[in-house]
Amino acid sequence: METKKEKMKIAIVYCSKQGTTEKVVRKIAEKSGGNQISIFNLKEDKLPNISSFEGIILGTSIYAGQSSKLMQAFVKKQTDKSVSDINSDNIDRFVQEINR
Ligand SMILES: Cc1cc2nc3c(=O)[nH]c(=O)nc-3n(C[C@H](O)[C@H](O)[C@H](O)COP(=O)(O)O)c2cc1C
Repeated sequence: METKKEKMKIAIVYCSKQGTTEKVVRKIAEKSGGNQISIFNLKEDKLPNISSFEGIILGTSIYAGQSSKLMQAFVKKQTDKSVSDINSDNIDRFVQEINR
């Protein structure tokens, strides 16, 4: 029997220089399976109050080994971590921390 999954309120915060990250973000939102997605462009939009979201997805391009400066500043503002401290092993803990 299929169990009904609860829908989540998710913020996607992104920064895109040439538009590719933005396209990926839109695709993720399209395929969100009915979750409530809000998209924030760090260059244009008012910064979200991320504590009102259950999950957060960060999208940034990389140029010369560096994620966007805006994204780095955003992450620093939310936590005492830098983007390069985050990896697939600790991402869950990071998301919990950012949502606190
Ligand atoms: C000059 C230049 C430098 C880049 N440096 C890196 C890099 O160091 N590491 C990487 O993974 N991708 C690198 N890329 C690829 C970009 O991150 C990739 O094209 C990305 O999708 C661009 O996203 P945007 O269109 O949202 O700005 C580089 C691209 C350019 C044009």
